[in-house]
Amino acid sequence: MPILEVNNLKKKFENTEILKGISFSMEEGQTISVIGSSGSGKTTMLRCLNLLEFADEGTITVNGEKLFDASEKLGNPDELREKRLHFGMVFQQFNLFPQYTALENVTLAPSLRGDGRSSEEILNMGKELLDQMGLSDRMNNYPHQLSGGQQQRVAIARALALKPDILCFDEPTSALDPELTGEVLRVIRELANKHMTMIIVTHEMAFARDVADEVIFMDSGIILEKGPAADVINNPAKERTRQFLSSLSSH
Ligand SMILES: Nc1ncnc2c1ncn2[C@@H]1O[C@H](COP(=O)(O)OP(=O)(O)OP(=O)(O)O)[C@@H](O)[C@H]1O
Ligand SMILES: [Mg+2]
Repeated sequence: MPILEVNNLKKKFENTEILKGISFSMEEGQTISVIGSSGSGKTTMLRCLNLLEFADEGTITVNGEKLFDASEKLGNPDELREKRLHFGMVFQQFNLFPQYTALENVTLAPSLRGDGRSSEEILNMGKELLDQMGLSDRMNNYPHQLSGGQQQRVAIARALALKPDILCFDEPTSALDPELTGEVLRVIRELANKHMTMIIVTHEMAFARDVADEVIFMDSGIILEKGPAADVINNPAKERTRQFLSSLSSH
């Protein structure tokens, strides 16, 4: 059974159709990279998956459980919160809580949630995750005392702390200098090696090709092409994909 099945998602903003019927599925442990020009709907798709936005049509199924069906009524806020936990989201602009330390940023949501773990267990998990992110000496720093790359690694630890089935990234390195980009890509690559299931929207083509099992190319609200990462990026089937890739390499 696929871990995620997305069927015919459509989304309009102000009468303009932004997602025009997105369907794909992925297996547990897979990494999918999503590429495509600005405005093609990549962020909108991730926001619909995370139920930060509700699609007008279509269904989202995780582990066989229908999380979202546009033709049915939405659940109450508690149900919705539970459903959102199947996905984790890491944004371009880290969005850490400025008034909390790195460790508190990671442990806050699991502590508030009361998922049966003791506060000591949550604290230990937070320390372990930050250690995995190479931040064991930064746990008690506040976001303003951390570099962008460090802040993004805290944001990744924070998303992992809620044990999502699928971790989504929306251009996780676009706000970073090239030097800091490498350290964030490294931790994402380690997660891929550990078979974390991930969907990564990125403009880093070499990274998309090397880390992902499959690449999705989005164009004007549809998936124009999906296939093994090396095929789509090195030898795309569609002319439009070819154009997009060569427009990047000519800069
Ligand atoms: N809340 C909104 N209200 C109205 N229009 C929106 C909204 N969110 C997105 N859009 C429009 O939807 C289209 C797709 O936007 P989206 O952010 O999904 O693109 P993207 O592929 O992520 O682009 P980029 O690579 O620049 O991040 C754009 O034309 C955008 O202006
Ligand atoms: Mg975007």
